[in-house]
Amino acid sequence: MAILKIARMGHPVLARIAEPVEDPTAPEVRRLIADMVDTLADAGGVGLAAPQVHAPKRIVIFHVPKGRAQLEKNGDEDDSDVEPEAVPMTVLINPEIVPLDDEMATGIEGCLSLPGMNGMVPRYRRIRYKAATPDGSVLEREASGFHARVVQHECDHLDGILYPMRMDDLSTFGFSEEMGRSELPLGERLRAMREAGDEEI
Ligand code: NI
Repeated sequence: MAILKIARMGHPVLARIAEPVEDPTAPEVRRLIADMVDTLADAGGVGLAAPQVHAPKRIVIFHVPKGRAQLEKNGDEDDSDVEPEAVPMTVLINPEIVPLDDEMATGIEGCLSLPGMNGMVPRYRRIRYKAATPDGSVLEREASGFHARVVQHECDHLDGILYPMRMDDLSTFGFSEEMGRSELPLGERLRAMREAGDEEI
């Protein structure tokens, strides 16, 4: 078990295009994934991409905790298709995402590479994704709501993209502790998230 250091925004490893993994079943890939799982558990996050731990490989891990899937309510008002189920820890190697339609949803995101900060980010509401898994099989899923958001956020890390680069309203970007002072809906939501102990993407 090893807890790895997490790179913060500005570190060059977060800005580059990560390399495809040639053999998803290789022992060194298995070790990296095990360390990523330990690192994510230690940091208290929802997802982690390999470049965030200074490994420029196309690997992400994530899980969607129970109940967390409802958070997107603060974005678009129509949340009828938000995924209600928890998603167990999932490893995606060389993932590919295809949006299922053009519909976007705006919701709160944070990132372990921008500790203490949050912003409202537009994402595709419904996607299909496909990836290799560590046992050498292929995983293919459809996702919506927070599940779809997490996958898009994590896979962006593989292309050097951090969530502020996806934002269309930078007035919603800042330190969550400070924004949580606001009486506006975003401030309310951030306070509620903190009280619920919700974790960073
Ligand atoms: Ni992130």
